[in-house]
Amino acid sequence: MFPSGLVVILVLTFSVTESKVDLLATPETIAVGLSSKLTLTCNVPVNPTMHVSAIHIYHSAGPEHNMSQLARIDLAGRIVSSLPNMTSVSGHVLVNEDSNLTVEWVFPTSAQAGYYVCNVSLSGAHAHIYHETQNHTVGKTKPDFVNIIQELRKLRSFVESKFGNQSEKWTQTYETFKSTHFIKLNLTGSSTSDYLLSKEPNSTAMQSDVMCHLLGGYLAEVSPREEQDITQALRTSGNGRVDLILIGGSDVDGTGNWMYMRNELPLKLNVSLPAAPGQDCLAFDTKASFRVVQTSCSNPSSSGTSLFLCQIDT
Ligand SMILES: *[C@@H]1O[C@H](CO)[C@@H](O)[C@H](O)[C@H]1NC(C)=O
Ligand SMILES: *[C@@H]1O[C@H](CO)[C@@H](O)[C@H](O)[C@H]1NC(C)=O
Ligand SMILES: *[C@@H]1O[C@H](CO)[C@@H](O)[C@H](O)[C@H]1NC(C)=O
Ligand SMILES: *[C@@H]1O[C@H](CO)[C@@H](O)[C@H](O)[C@H]1NC(C)=O
Ligand SMILES: *[C@@H]1O[C@H](CO)[C@@H](O)[C@H](O)[C@H]1NC(C)=O
Ligand SMILES: *[C@@H]1O[C@H](CO)[C@@H](O)[C@H](O)[C@H]1NC(C)=O
Ligand SMILES: *[C@@H]1O[C@H](CO)[C@@H](O)[C@H](O)[C@H]1NC(C)=O
Ligand SMILES: *[C@@H]1O[C@H](CO)[C@@H](O)[C@H](O)[C@H]1NC(C)=O
Ligand SMILES: *[C@@H]1O[C@H](CO)[C@@H](O)[C@H](O)[C@H]1NC(C)=O
Repeated sequence: MFPSGLVVILVLTFSVTESKVDLLATPETIAVGLSSKLTLTCNVPVNPTMHVSAIHIYHSAGPEHNMSQLARIDLAGRIVSSLPNMTSVSGHVLVNEDSNLTVEWVFPTSAQAGYYVCNVSLSGAHAHIYHETQNHTVGKTKPDFVNIIQELRKLRSFVESKFGNQSEKWTQTYETFKSTHFIKLNLTGSSTSDYLLSKEPNSTAMQSDVMCHLLGGYLAEVSPREEQDITQALRTSGNGRVDLILIGGSDVDGTGNWMYMRNELPLKLNVSLPAAPGQDCLAFDTKASFRVVQTSCSNPSSSGTSLFLCQIDT
C-alpha cells in the first residue's frame, strides 16, 4: 500500500501543470429577438510547457445530443467554419501568448441556445498530444410586454452607440433582425401587407405579438380575400414539422366573441368557433388543410410545434 500522503502530492503536482481552458458566453442567456449579439469565446492561457495546436468549438441542443463542430482554428491560424456568413469567427493560436477562438452571431435565435464544448489539442514534451475541454450552456428567454419598452430602448441605444443615429444603419439592423428571425411569404395576390413567418418555435401569443411589434407589425389579421393566398404560401414555405401557425384574433373573455386585441375590432374571418375554456387564440392547423382552429394562448404548441405569422403594412 502507498502512504496516502504520496498520492495527494502526485495529484497536486498534476493539477498545477494542467492547462486550463475557459469558455465564456456573452450574454449568458439569449433574449430571443432582443439580444443583438451572442459571443462565445474559448480562451487558452499561455502555458510554458504545452502549446496549442488547435481549438475546436462544438454545439448541440444539450449534453445528451450529438455535437456538431462550429469552428476550428489551428496553429497556422487557419479557420475552418461551418457557420453562415451572418456569423463571424476569429481567433489566434500563439506560442507565447494566450490563444483563443471566438464565434459571434447577430440576433441569435433559439437555435443558438444550448450546450457548447471547446476542445483544445495541446502538445507537450516529445510531441505528446492531448486534449483539454470545457463546456458552457447558453440559456434563452423570450420577451414579454412587461420589458418590451425597456428592451427596445436598450436595443436602440446599442445601435446608436455603435453606429450613431443615422437611419440607414438602423435600417440595416432592422433588415438583419428580419432575415435572422423570419421568412417572408411569397404571395401571388396583390396584398398591401407583407406576411412574415417566424422561425421561432413554441412562442406564446404574447411573445409572438412582441416579436411582430419589434418588426413594426402585428400578429397577422388574415382577411377572407387573402386567406387562400396566405395558406398556399405557407404550404410551400417548407415547414413540414410544424403543426400550428398562430395568427391574430382572440376571445379574451372566453365568450366566443372573437376580435383583434390591437384595436378591439371584430375578426375579419368568418369562423364559427364556440367558446372553449383556455382556447382563446387562433391558428392555422397545417394538419387539417390549414383550417383556422382555436388554441391555447399561453401554450399554442400543446399538441405539437407551433410558429407564428406577422403582418406588416407596407
Ligand atoms: C448520434 O450519433 C449516433 C452515432 O453516429 C447515431 O446512432 C444516433 O442516431 C445519433 N443521435 C441523434 C439524436 O442524432
Ligand atoms: C451570404 O452568402 C450568400 C452566398 O454565399 C449570399 O447570397 C448572401 O447575400 C450572403 N448574405 C449576407 C447577409 O451577407
Ligand atoms: C485572443 O488572443 C489575442 C492574443 O493573445 C488577444 O490579443 C485577443 O484580445 C484575444 N481575444 C479575446 C476575445 O480574448
Ligand atoms: C477532443 O477532441 C479529440 C480529437 O478530436 C477527441 O479524441 C477527444 O475525445 C475530444 N475530447 C472530448 C472530451 O470531447
Ligand atoms: C461540463 O464541465 C463541468 C466542469 O466545468 C463538468 O463538471 C461537467 O461534467 C461537464 N459536462 C459534461 C457533460 O461533460
Ligand atoms: C442624433 O440626432 C439628433 C437629432 O435627431 C441630433 O441632434 C444628434 O446630433 C444626433 N447624434 C448623432 C451622434 O448623430
Ligand atoms: C420565395 O421565392 C424565392 C424566389 O423564388 C425563393 O428563393 C424563396 O425561398 C421563396 N420563399 C418562400 C418562403 O417560399
Ligand atoms: C358566416 O358563416 C355562416 C355559416 O358558417 C353564415 O351563416 C354567415 O352568414 C356568415 N357570415 C358572414 C358575415 O359571412
Ligand atoms: C414544441 O412543444 C411541443 C410540446 O409542447 C414539443 O413536442 C415540440 O418538440 C416543441 N417543438 C420545438 C421545436 O421545440
